[in-house]
Formats: sequence, structure tokens, C-alpha cells
Amino acid sequence: MLAATAISQSAADPLSGLVLRDAPKPEARPGWSLVRVVASSLNMHDLWTLRGVGHPPERLPIILGCDAAGYNENGDEVIVHPVLGDPEAGGGDVTLDPDRALLSERHDGAFAEYLAVPTGNLVPKPSWLSFDEAACLPVAWGTAYRMLFTQARITAGDRVLVQGAGGGVASAAIRLAAAAGAVVYATSRSEDKRAEALTWGARAALPTGGRLPERVDVVIETVGEATWAHSLKCLRPGGTVVIAGATSGAAPSADLNRIFYQQLRVMGSTGCTRSELVALLRMMEATGVRPVIDRTLPLEEIHKGFQLMIDGSLTGKLVVHPSASQQ
Ligand SMILES: NC(=O)c1ccc[n+]([C@@H]2O[C@H](COP(=O)([O-])OP(=O)(O)OC[C@H]3O[C@@H](n4cnc5c(N)ncnc54)[C@H](OP(=O)(O)O)[C@@H]3O)[C@@H](O)[C@H]2O)c1
Repeated sequence: MLAATAISQSAADPLSGLVLRDAPKPEARPGWSLVRVVASSLNMHDLWTLRGVGHPPERLPIILGCDAAGYNENGDEVIVHPVLGDPEAGGGDVTLDPDRALLSERHDGAFAEYLAVPTGNLVPKPSWLSFDEAACLPVAWGTAYRMLFTQARITAGDRVLVQGAGGGVASAAIRLAAAAGAVVYATSRSEDKRAEALTWGARAALPTGGRLPERVDVVIETVGEATWAHSLKCLRPGGTVVIAGATSGAAPSADLNRIFYQQLRVMGSTGCTRSELVALLRMMEATGVRPVIDRTLPLEEIHKGFQLMIDGSLTGKLVVHPSASQQ
């Protein structure tokens, strides 16, 4: 089967380590299921692996791709919950298992025609959701759901700022927070993406660092250094910033004086549990909210997809079809 495989890492030239090549079809083993992948989607995580961030070189080569929707061996439509681990080791929360791994970290990922995962990681795909939409959910939308509802515990009427509107996680956060009745503000470097954010339910969309009309209760932060100071300044006293990523750099000034004087809460968030993914699906059914899809590419054009992500020109998610014949 054709697979997009990371064979080496380079911070300066990440695409030099990405090859499309034949890989053996994975074999089913006890407790695991074989999934025929219909759709996957690209995440920054795939790029970090190629850049050598958070993925040790001894775990290469590995097939990339953290998101998958497809068919199990019985022909059932499934979505893959991508966090592999032991919920008990995390006190009932698999994302807190110190030994957890995201798909494509220790086990081959979804940029291939077939994928093997623990059967417990499969979630039934509802018929009202397309495979392309389903492939956007496990990482980006699941992360946004946990940030908003589990970590920040937003409720209707809360004021929420989402930084970097065009991102996969950020676009999800805008749509989900708006659907939950929050007053949503967004920032983006791009005028076009700001205009899009308004159509997703944001009350206002400002250039990066722009002054909001009011302070907010919660900031959803995945951009990092480029927006961190602004995120802290925009919070009301006692407000909460939830961080799930640091695309532009992970070591800004912490601004400790502001954090203690304004009594701010700083929370990390990573991935989502299987139950949160199921709850996300219920919310999407109830509200009609669907992922923002920038475009769909065949696996053969995966290098182009990565370049669009590197250039920052995507709005929302890029869906990948591992095999044109399977659509
Ligand atoms: N912890 C987790 O479980 C988890 C899960 C998913 C993602 N993440 C992390 O979260 C981050 C976002 O992921 P993603 O998949 O949403 O990525 P993405 O789709 O590439 O979005 C990143 C967004 O960040 C903004 N951005 C990037 N560089 C910027 C800069 N220099 N200044 C201002 N804004 C900038 C851009 O927004 P505009 O173009 O609109 O300005 C861009 O669209 C990544 O670092 C990823 O690794 C973590």
C-alpha cells in the first residue's frame, strides 16, 4: 500500500524527510482492528515530527497521519480516537497516562490505505457526518472541545478569544464556542481569514495583537510566542488561558507579574478522551456545526499539503485521501 512516511528529520527542510513509498499492509492482531482509511487530515503534529520536535529519531521510519475515518473489518463506518494508552494509568483519563502516544508517534499513522489500531479506539461514525468531515475531528476538533468545555468549562455568555483563527484547532474553537452561546473574538494575520471567522460565528475578528472591545473570560491559545503577551492582556482578572500549542515559539516572556496580580489561570491541554470525542459528535449533531475544510488532496499530493501548512495559507483543515479508488 502507498504510505507517506517520515524517514528523516530536519528543522530547516522538513519535507526532505517525507517520502511516498510502498509499505506492507498492517496485520490484525488480538485486540486490534484493521481500518481501511477513507479520509485523513493533516495536522501540525505531522510537521513537528518531520522537524524533529517531540519525536525521537530512533522512532523513524514511521507512517505519518494522526486522524482517520474509514471502515473496520466488518464494513462498519468508524472514526479513530487517536490517543493510544491506558485510561487507568491516567486516573480514568487516557490523556493523563504518562505513557500515552498519539497515532504516528509509536505506531504507524493514517497516511496510508490501511491502519491498525486498538479496537477500543474505534468510535462509530454517524451517518450524518461525511468521511471528510469525520477525518477533521479526532485531533483538531477533539482538542478544541476539551480546551473549551473540559478545561475552561465555558458556559453560554462567556467571552472567549481565539488566537490564530485560520488554524485547524482555532477554527474548531470558534465554531464550537459560538455554538455554545459564547461571545467569540478571534485574531488572524490574514484579512481573508478574519472575514471567514465572522461567518463561523465570531462577533469580531481583529489583526494579531488587535485591541478587543472588552476583556474576555477565556483565551484559546495555540499560537505561542507571537500572541502570548496579547492573550494575557486580554483576560479579565481571574480569567483563564488554555494552551494546546505554540506554533510560533514556546518560550515567550511568562509575564509572571500579570499572572499573579490579575490572578490568571494558565492551563495546558492535550488531545481528548474517547468520551470527549463522542460528546463532540453529539454536540455537532445537536447544533449542526461542521468542520471548516480548506481543501482535499490525494495522498500523492501530500508534499503540496505540507507546504501549504508551512506557508500558513490554509484556512481550517486539509483532508487527505489515501486512495482515490476507495472514495
Ligand atoms: N496539544 C494538543 O493536543 C494539540 C492538538 C492539536 C494541535 N496542537 C498544536 O496547536 C498548534 C496549532 O495546530 P493546528 O493544527 O491548528 O495548526 P494550523 O492549522 O497550522 O494553525 C496554526 C495557526 O496559528 C497561527 N499562526 C501561526 N504562526 C503565527 C504567527 N507567527 N503569528 C500569528 N499567528 C500565527 C495561524 O493563524 P492565522 O493564519 O489565522 O494568523 C495558523 O493558522 C500547533 O502547534 C499544534 O502542534 C496541539
